[in-house]
Amino acid sequence: MQWLPYLSRYIHVLMAVLAVGGLFFLWRVTLPALAAAGESEAAAAARRLVVRRWRMILWHAIVLLLVTGVYNAYLNWPPRGAPGGPTWHMLFGIKMILAGGLFVIGIALTWPGQGPAFFKRRAGLFIRVNVVLALAVVALASAMKMLH
Ligand code: HEM
Repeated sequence: MQWLPYLSRYIHVLMAVLAVGGLFFLWRVTLPALAAAGESEAAAAARRLVVRRWRMILWHAIVLLLVTGVYNAYLNWPPRGAPGGPTWHMLFGIKMILAGGLFVIGIALTWPGQGPAFFKRRAGLFIRVNVVLALAVVALASAMKMLH
């Protein structure tokens, strides 16, 4: 077995699990629990802590997904004339656009301080958008795998 491709694949899948699983947990569990805690100073402190800790996990996951994703692309790029090649390229392009959107929204919502207000004021909406994007990105990755 080749260790570098294995390690890259392991890190890519692990970071996808962490980022997508963490997003889902935030959406369905943490944020509703924080909302139920009301407007006290303790609840506001808990919200700040959640954002700070999630930022650390998410931003590292994004960097690792990009690095291992580029390496995966180099390894899995279909040879010229391969039967599933054009479809693979199309899915890869769509995956890049959707993953880019997912990363931009994730970074904007966890950016330190008040801004960017456009995203933070609509956090509930953008978290839902990211859940949909995440489901689509994993579906595309699975389809790409089937084309080899
Ligand atoms: C939210 C971000 C992302 C998620 C959730 C994600 C998820 C996944 C998953 C689950 C796989 C299948 C792994 C396997 O079975 O070995 C995969 C494969 C792959 N990913 Fe990602 N990924 C993300 C971002 C990226 C990025 C940014 C790139 C490129 C820069 C990338 C490039 C690839 C490539 C080339 C493959 C292999 C496809 C194939 O087998 O033909 N991914 N990804």
